Amino acid sequence: MRKPILIGNWKMNGSLHSNQALIVRVLARIRPFCKTIDMAICPPFPYLFQVRDLLGYTGVALGAQNVSCATSGAHTGEVSATMLAEMGCRYVLVGHSERRSLYHESDNDTAARFRQIKACGMVPVLCVGETLKEREQGRTEEVVERQLRAVIDENGMAAVAGCIVAYEPVWAIGTGRTATPDQVNETHRAIRQFLENCAAGAGQSTRIVYGGSVNAANAAELFQSPEVDGGLVGGASLKADEFSGIGAALANTVTQTDSSCDAVDSFQME
Ligand code: PGA
Repeated sequence: MRKPILIGNWKMNGSLHSNQALIVRVLARIRPFCKTIDMAICPPFPYLFQVRDLLGYTGVALGAQNVSCATSGAHTGEVSATMLAEMGCRYVLVGHSERRSLYHESDNDTAARFRQIKACGMVPVLCVGETLKEREQGRTEEVVERQLRAVIDENGMAAVAGCIVAYEPVWAIGTGRTATPDQVNETHRAIRQFLENCAAGAGQSTRIVYGGSVNAANAAELFQSPEVDGGLVGGASLKADEFSGIGAALANTVTQTDSSCDAVDSFQME
């Protein structure tokens, strides 16, 4: 069984004062179910230290929103994977659509960043997803497979073991427009099949989460499919009631017999 995971992506939001208030409120609300699912929060870089201290030993993990493709040295403005690992990050987002579109990060850049994250023992959260135009052209599967393939070609299939794939249709991010449960289900199934074809067991063991305008009101419907292993949440992760409501909806999908489930860290190579 794959343990569901909820990841909050704060994007470029927050302040020392508001972060503290938000985390305190979130931690109070998630207590009943925080052991049932995995949870992580990805604040902007300057707040990693603060958020790490606030999360303490609650079991909610720390994540980062991006990482340099270089190891160290003359890269002004960049943050290395070693630094993120030292700060206690467990997860790192990579290939987010805002990075791809606003900062022109290519499939190859994404693959190089993925390599850095793995080399430092952290878990990449590889974001893939199509634009509205690509969906309308019927190219959704082709696009997400291209994005996955670039990472696999650069890092090998063994490196994908234990990573998380986030399916985030670009047209659903921050727009208030979510993909329908059928669209999510269909694309998650295609991603799983693609991974399974690359290495036996990879499709079944990889956690695939959905992102794009998830909120407390639509979470239960989006998470109902067994293909969906959780969510990557932007805007709603900045509101304690919304984020904890999404967490509760995700925890509700876990039955009693599932609660000892965990992600698999390796699978058989073909
Ligand atoms: P959103 O963002 O929930 O605000 O749509 C999701 C994301 O960018 O990961």
